[in-house]
Amino acid sequence: MSIADRKADHIDLCATGPVGFREKRTLLDNVEFFHQALPELDADAIDTSTELLGKTLRAPILIAAMTGGTERAASINQQLAAIAEERGYGFGLGSQRPMLENPDDPSYQVRDVAPDCLLLGNIAAVQAREIGVEVVETLAAAVGADAMCLHLNPAMELIQPGGDRDFTGIVEILTSCAEKLPIPVVAKETGCGISPTAAQRLAACGICHVDVSGAGGTSWVAVETERAQDDARALGEALREWGVPTAACIAYARRAQPAFDSIIATGGIKTGLDIARSIALGASAAGLARPVLQALHRDGPEGVISLLDAVERELRAVMLLVGAANIAELATTPYLPRGELRDWLGVPNPPDTAD
Ligand SMILES: Cc1cc2nc3c(=O)[nH]c(=O)nc-3n(C[C@H](O)[C@H](O)[C@H](O)COP(=O)(O)O)c2cc1C
Repeated sequence: MSIADRKADHIDLCATGPVGFREKRTLLDNVEFFHQALPELDADAIDTSTELLGKTLRAPILIAAMTGGTERAASINQQLAAIAEERGYGFGLGSQRPMLENPDDPSYQVRDVAPDCLLLGNIAAVQAREIGVEVVETLAAAVGADAMCLHLNPAMELIQPGGDRDFTGIVEILTSCAEKLPIPVVAKETGCGISPTAAQRLAACGICHVDVSGAGGTSWVAVETERAQDDARALGEALREWGVPTAACIAYARRAQPAFDSIIATGGIKTGLDIARSIALGASAAGLARPVLQALHRDGPEGVISLLDAVERELRAVMLLVGAANIAELATTPYLPRGELRDWLGVPNPPDTAD
């Protein structure tokens, strides 16, 4: 199967297929804010703007990495990047692997419709290991990226027919990219999350920006399980709920030393309340992937705009109701961790922190 066919499957499955986690949740609903009955704020004066990766966003929102490499992907990227530009959000391109074979692939070129928005390039870290830092830099420059995401996706690859199985040497390539690329490097998971050990390894190897992409939204094991057959399908079914909930990942990333300059929260973000909770936990901004694709598929660009309008409206309302005039105040808003999130955060030494 070609990469283009695989991309088409991914878009179809994510637009309409049963690829969400069945039971695992982001646990953002376990973050309880204290209602502020005396906010002393004017709702119209709430400031949602924030700095991320050297650019100012109107709100701490990204349309997270999804696609590229096909005509349909080109249309999706153009439409979503134009919305990000108009609205002052960040925009992530999908994996640029197809550009290794076709450097002029037009499906990744969005600067014509999004000249100023925060644009994130994307390549798998395993791929980066094969091609080296210089080629990663070429990929970033070819699309005019402000930052480059190196994505981590071992769970998905193990289920994908013909997927990668060797995940050695990733710390080394991340270290080199963080050191040598002229733009910021974001280490990004793809829906299984970042554990305490992984966060600490990333921080220790000089990575300053992380997208935790935790569990509770799109399950990429589920996406590949839907495509897999026989043994791979059985393995995918067994691991369908694998991953660390997004809320826990954000808190783990927040604890890592040296501290990350930015923490992006993706994985199951759907609402303004989710974003507010992510920021209170330590995120700098939050990203939505599949909900945006579904809105685009269902209702076109207007559907995406109306989804993001609702998200922003809800974020502003929550900010007022916790008494936060701006994102810096939201970041220091007290909250009560409840339920299962307490288990994830309360265990002082999770089993994988042994090394
Ligand atoms: C159709 C689709 C394609 C994706 N492709 C990529 C990719 O190429 N690179 C990447 O880093 N993440 C990719 N992702 C993962 C998302 O960026 C995000 O981390 C993950 O889906 C969790 O967010 P969600 O629950 O909002 O979908 C993709 C997601 C979707 C829905």
